[in-house]
Parts: sequence; structure tokens; C-alpha cells
Amino acid sequence: MPVRFRKVSDAIGAEILDVDISQPMSDATFREIQQIWFDHNILLFRDQTRLAPGHQIEFTRRLGTLETHTLPQYSHPDHPEIFIVSNVKKAGKNIGAPRSGRNWHSDGQYLKRPNDGSFLVAKEVPPEEGDTMFANMYAAYEALSPARRKEIEQLKVVISRIKAYPTSYPTRPPLTAEEKARVPDVIHPLVRTNPATGRKALYVGGDVSWEIVGMPHDEGRALIKELRDYATSDPFIYRHHWREGDGILWDNRCTMHCATSFDEERYRRVMFRTTLTGSVPF
Ligand code: SIN
Repeated sequence: MPVRFRKVSDAIGAEILDVDISQPMSDATFREIQQIWFDHNILLFRDQTRLAPGHQIEFTRRLGTLETHTLPQYSHPDHPEIFIVSNVKKAGKNIGAPRSGRNWHSDGQYLKRPNDGSFLVAKEVPPEEGDTMFANMYAAYEALSPARRKEIEQLKVVISRIKAYPTSYPTRPPLTAEEKARVPDVIHPLVRTNPATGRKALYVGGDVSWEIVGMPHDEGRALIKELRDYATSDPFIYRHHWREGDGILWDNRCTMHCATSFDEERYRRVMFRTTLTGSVPF
């Protein structure tokens, strides 16, 4: 029986129906799901409450190689492949990365080989807010006029995790020298081709997109901001309100996402993320 799915919004995303990822999955079913992912860029799986870390790792591994985050202090103590995003503290220590991803970005954009995809599973969620927004970067690129596409197609962006970190994470301790050594500045194209589909997408990213190669700094930043604001405007985005047991798989090569705030004094939010390694963007 074919995998059933439905679109979650006009902009992006599909919900896979009747699939429990904790159960064995045939290659045929897996391949169908993977194709729906390529076609819809993000996939929602509801009610994955039986999904143990091992199942999450196993499922993501079928899509590619897993990466351990450059900040391993936020990894699951027994499963380093799982990066925890959380406001919860145990014995005064954060169990995961607090306030992670509160700006539009795609994972690992600051790496030479950014992450192909990420799978985020909601373990504990606030009853209100704490949503995640997703933007369709193919659609944003394709909606530009041919002349505008031609103007920007060859541009390259200097990506700097080190320069952006204090703005992105003002409440976290600064990066140590060792952490900085893991994330030297890199240069990526402003428009990238997703090798899985052959389609082109805008690749403007978040705070880490520092400047445009060969353009005066302020002019480059203004262009990055203009394109980011455009790509994250209503026609291109979906906002997801999490339920416990939701899992969302996204393709970082053609989407951006942005976590939103919630009342951190009142509520706990615990999310487990597995992340795929990637290849050099072109
Ligand atoms: C992330 O950027 O990977 C985390 C997003 C979220 O917690 O909603």
C-alpha cells in the first residue's frame, strides 16, 4: 500500500500518515518516504511517542551519515548523535542547547560541508508558543524574476560562525578557542543546487551569512537581509505548533527554519535532533 500523506501548507511540507518510525520499515516504504521528502522539503510525523533515541538514530542513518554537533556538551549523554535543544537544567547545568536556532538559518551553514538534513523530535513541549517556522528556499528562488536570478546567481557569501555567535547567542558563554578552531570562516554560494533533486534554492542563511565576496560590507549585508526577509515572508513559510511525539525531518539544502520563543520560566521544551553530514554546496 502506498504511503499516505497530505500537505501541511501551501508553502512547504507534507505530513506522513500511518507510519510509526519505531517499527520496522521496508526499503520500499523508506524510499517512498524519502521521495515525498524530496518533493515537499519537510516531513511531519505525528504521534511518534514510542520513538526511542535508538530508533531516531536508525531512521536518520538510512538517509545518510550522522554528524555529532560542534558543541558536544549539548549532546545526549548516552547517544552523542543526538543534539538536545532545551531550556531544562539538571543540577544547574543545561541538558541541551538553550535558545537554539532563534533566527532563520539552515543547520551547519557555517561548515565547509553543511548538514544535508535534520530530524527534530519533540519530547516535551510547551502548551503555547515554542513553534518552529520553515521556509521554502526553492520557491523563493523560483519566484524571483529571471533578471534578478541572473544578478545573484554567481555571488558567494562569507559565512562566519565566529563573528555571528555573540549576536546569535547573547546568553551563552562565548566560544572557546577550541570551539572556534572547529568553525573557521567558509565561503558558500548564494544560490545552491540540491544534488538530490537538481533544483536551485536561495542559500542566504541566518546571522552567520556575514558578507558577500567582492561587495562592500554594508552593501553585501543589505542584500543578504533583503533576500532573507523576502524568502521568509508569508507566501514561503509554514509555522509548526509542536505536539509531544511530533517529528519533523527537513532538508537544509532547500529550506531554512527558525525556532520561536516561549515562556521559559513556566514551561519545559525538550527536543532531540539527529543531523546528517553533507557535501560542499555548489
Ligand atoms: C534547530 O534550529 O535545530 C532547533 C529548532 C527548534 O528548536 O525549534
